[in-house]
Amino acid sequence: MNARIENALNAQVEKECSSSQYYLAMASWAEGQGLNGTARFLYRHSDEERFHMLKLIKFINERGGKAIVPSVPQPPEEFKNLANVFELLLEHELQVTSSINEVVDTCLQEKDYTTHNFMQWYVSEQLEEEALARTILDKLKLIDGDKGGMYMFDRDLENFEFVDQQNQAGQQA
Ligand code: FEO
Repeated sequence: MNARIENALNAQVEKECSSSQYYLAMASWAEGQGLNGTARFLYRHSDEERFHMLKLIKFINERGGKAIVPSVPQPPEEFKNLANVFELLLEHELQVTSSINEVVDTCLQEKDYTTHNFMQWYVSEQLEEEALARTILDKLKLIDGDKGGMYMFDRDLENFEFVDQQNQAGQQA
């Protein structure tokens, strides 16, 4: 495997790993606040990011590279409020999108069209994740701290299913 591509993919492994840990910290915080639906959503989001990381690790190894399992910085323990959690989540996803775009750019520079093709899955995934974070933030703005609204919001998130997890469950069935 081309060394530049291998380094770029391993850097992306680290980003997905740190996303997973970051959302896990958010999930744990939400659980402590009694927001069980939001916590379930964030635990699943964290699993989703771990799946993104594993997919990259397997791809690197299958293509003859060496995947590196990274250590990541400890995420925060406290968050200001729920809106702050989802603002940070969106900000984080925007950074992930830009790093995915850099990997895609490196693939084009190195004429590695197989990895370029593989990365398109991540490009689409980012579109969905950014849209989801924006929708959630819009809802929180509408609710504006109203207790009944927050109850409904938390219940809605409890029932949210990630498409990839539904697909994985379908494949296992
Ligand atoms: Fe795997 Fe949310 O980026």
